[in-house]
Amino acid sequence: MRALIEISGEQKGMARAEVESVIEMLDLSGTATGIGERYLLFEDADRGISELGGRLGLSHRIMEVLWNGSGVDDLLKEDGRSLDIARTIGDGPFYIRVKLGDGSTAVQRSDIIEHLGEMVDAPDSAERPATVIRVFEEDGLWLCRVVSEIGRKDARDRRVGNRPFFAPISIEPKYVRAMLNLARVREGGSILDPFCGTGGVLIEGASMGMSTYGIDILDQMVEGARTNLAHFGLEGEVARGDAGSVREVFPTIGEGGLDAVVTDPPYGRATTVGGETTSDLIERAVSGFSPLLKPEGRVVMVLPDLALAHSVNGYKLVESHPLRVHRSLTRNFCIFERR
Ligand SMILES: C[S@@+](CC[C@H](N)C(=O)[O-])C[C@H]1O[C@@H](n2cnc3c(N)ncnc32)[C@H](O)[C@@H]1O
Repeated sequence: MRALIEISGEQKGMARAEVESVIEMLDLSGTATGIGERYLLFEDADRGISELGGRLGLSHRIMEVLWNGSGVDDLLKEDGRSLDIARTIGDGPFYIRVKLGDGSTAVQRSDIIEHLGEMVDAPDSAERPATVIRVFEEDGLWLCRVVSEIGRKDARDRRVGNRPFFAPISIEPKYVRAMLNLARVREGGSILDPFCGTGGVLIEGASMGMSTYGIDILDQMVEGARTNLAHFGLEGEVARGDAGSVREVFPTIGEGGLDAVVTDPPYGRATTVGGETTSDLIERAVSGFSPLLKPEGRVVMVLPDLALAHSVNGYKLVESHPLRVHRSLTRNFCIFERR
């Protein structure tokens, strides 16, 4: 199958890196070719495509390419046999969404819908379609069937403001998912968040089938993270303690027992660092979890300033993606590997 992935327009670099990470981790064949800025094309993507859809945070949808050509006139010349659209849709309800670029006309749009509709012997339904066909322009014209819509209802339910225990310190699930994917943790793997706060990382990790361990210095955060996990029917170990004492807090995690550490340490006013600098706190946390992390395990950490990367002792920064939150805060999503 030729698969086209539509990535997030707001965080393109990170979205693309996320897709490539998952493709590599799941050992799905093929390398991505960029189509414009928002699409990645995989020529031979049969295996694992649904697993990919279930994991991604920063992509919108995965589509099967049914046809692609240079423009509307080309598409209108195709017939039902060459497009094979009737078989794709079957007899279930379908919906055709056409999005053409500037310079196109409403007539072209309705010509496409009419032309494709004539090839199909099924009812159309915008409300409950079994098959969604999308026609859009991006370096030519594409006709695709939507295989998987990403970030639908369950992801919306888990958004920061929809959790029973809420604090504005938490990062939205789509970014957390991307962090876990950039950490390349498989289903069944185990992760630690030594600064777990309200449990944003634990919630996404558990919902992706990982074993999750979280530590926070504040009782209220520990209780809140537990409440949040239970609210979504998810499991995770959450304990009060200092980020630097993982071995004491979780004695059952043996050496090399963690696949990754994914975390957003405290910085700025919204979090507690006591009298310690962020840099010293990170250094302490890293020396605490390092023996527990598999040699190939990654650390994915949000840093407000890339200069703090030197505090992640023993690890090299391999990738970073900035996200401007407001005038005085940029979150840099940083990926580290052991030196
Ligand atoms: C930026 S917040 C983490 C937010 C979290 N990702 C979430 O989803 O809510 C940082 C957290 O680190 C905790 N913290 C501060 N100092 C700590 C320490 N020494 N050890 C463990 N946790 C600490 C704070 O209480 C705060 O909840």
